[in-house]
Amino acid sequence: MNLNKTPLHVAIIMDGNGRWAKKRNLPRIFGHKAGMNAVEKIVPYAAKKGIKYLSLFAFSTENWLRPKEEVEGLMEILSEFIDKEFNKIMENNIKIVVSGRLEQIPEIPRTKLLNLMEKSEKNRGMVLNLALSYGGRSEIVDAVNKIIKSDIKEVQEDSFVKYLYNPEIPDVDLLIRTSGEMRISNFMLWRLAYAELYFTDVLWPDFNEEEFDKALNDYANRSRRFGMTDEQIERGDI
Ligand code: IPE
Ligand code: IPE
Ligand code: MG
Repeated sequence: MNLNKTPLHVAIIMDGNGRWAKKRNLPRIFGHKAGMNAVEKIVPYAAKKGIKYLSLFAFSTENWLRPKEEVEGLMEILSEFIDKEFNKIMENNIKIVVSGRLEQIPEIPRTKLLNLMEKSEKNRGMVLNLALSYGGRSEIVDAVNKIIKSDIKEVQEDSFVKYLYNPEIPDVDLLIRTSGEMRISNFMLWRLAYAELYFTDVLWPDFNEEEFDKALNDYANRSRRFGMTDEQIERGDI
């Protein structure tokens, strides 16, 4: 339960790349490239703002259904992102983790990701959680299958979370979704249970430091109650 004015964990559904490109009569892949530039700006900025965990929805289990060229283009952009950002990630002391079925990611970006995860493992700044081939339902199903294979006969909420992807990552405090869509699209179902939701019409490639500040300010003004009353929260009865 995080009652601080700064969220501990921010998750972002980076949506609207295709529409950004369409508005400019460009192929969708140009929108994804522009989206990568927005990621490059937001990651160090989030670290600077004191965010401890940042989860970015980069590719969903459902996104495999997109045209082959688009999927291939996205995987190339992922490789490019790692090559380009490697040094900056290390300089900023950022630790990279991946949530999702990494084994489904093509070999070139997968090898680069595994290397980046290993090299950044000891970094103690922000944790950047890249959701790749990620589905909230798959995460829960994968957790259940791990439990079935163990000798555990019963779970509670706090023991169940140990089987999710990267169990050290806490619940989401603030979820941001760009592009005006107001849905979760199978993102972090378990950890979003009590998240504050922030929707903006800004398309992901246009999202910048100023827009991120708007979301953080909005969050700082929310009253989080976790089922209790304002009075209990004010008294600190937790
Ligand atoms: C988000 O942008 C990026 C991914 C899903 C990979 P979209 O590609 O979904 O953009 P729109 O929704 O078509 O505008
Ligand atoms: C969600 O966006 C997935 C990512 C941002 C990676 P989509 O564009 O795939 O979501 P829907 O299909 O419109 O709900
Ligand atoms: Mg979309």
